[in-house]
Amino acid sequence: MDTKIASNDYPLHELLKNRWSPRAFENKFIKPELVRSLFEAARWAPSSSNIQPWYFIAGFKGDDTYESISKTLVEFNLLWATRAPLLFVAVARENNNRGEPNVSALYDLGQAVALLTVQAMAENLYVHQMGGFDAEKARELFEIPVGYKPATVVAVGYMGHSSDLHPNLLKMEVAPRERRKASESVFSGKFGQESKIF
Ligand SMILES: Cc1cc2nc3c(=O)[nH]c(=O)nc-3n(C[C@H](O)[C@H](O)[C@H](O)COP(=O)(O)O)c2cc1C
Repeated sequence: MDTKIASNDYPLHELLKNRWSPRAFENKFIKPELVRSLFEAARWAPSSSNIQPWYFIAGFKGDDTYESISKTLVEFNLLWATRAPLLFVAVARENNNRGEPNVSALYDLGQAVALLTVQAMAENLYVHQMGGFDAEKARELFEIPVGYKPATVVAVGYMGHSSDLHPNLLKMEVAPRERRKASESVFSGKFGQESKIF
């Protein structure tokens, strides 16, 4: 099993330090109560005006929903994602309760998935989000109405062995995780001006 612990510059909670997006998943079922807790974590995310614009279409390996989700994946993601026991499509409701565009919809959906990811880590489950899927195909297959945007497909499971992966994926799986410095993203005074906090 490959762990890719963050080389953090400042102290970080274990759950965040250990989180990463593996492509190798173990062929192991996730207990339903753990899956319920994942979506409970998403449920309690903050959202603009508490609109809760998140919706999820969940498939479990072996069922029709899972099969349909896998049909939406781009070739690259198909190389690995269908080993995961749980796949779901994350969908954002695009309008607010007055029928106007909710500019925070994708932001809030992302927060919900982020919290789900942390809840998953608390159970030793790993999450890998994917933008590489055919959203229009997902719309057709799942009859997703206009005004709801399929944003990502998400794979969840227990971490597997990189040696089980397609050879083209191996290098990426074991490469160290990299980030720019926090000081390059946090400004004070004006945009682009490094904050004194660092
Ligand atoms: C919105 C989104 C879309 C992504 N799309 C893909 C994808 O289609 N295929 C893939 O293998 N990884 C995908 N990723 C995973 C990212 O490549 C990964 O999170 C990033 O390289 C940082 O690595 P880490 O999560 O292991 O820290 C996606 C992640 C996000 C958040």
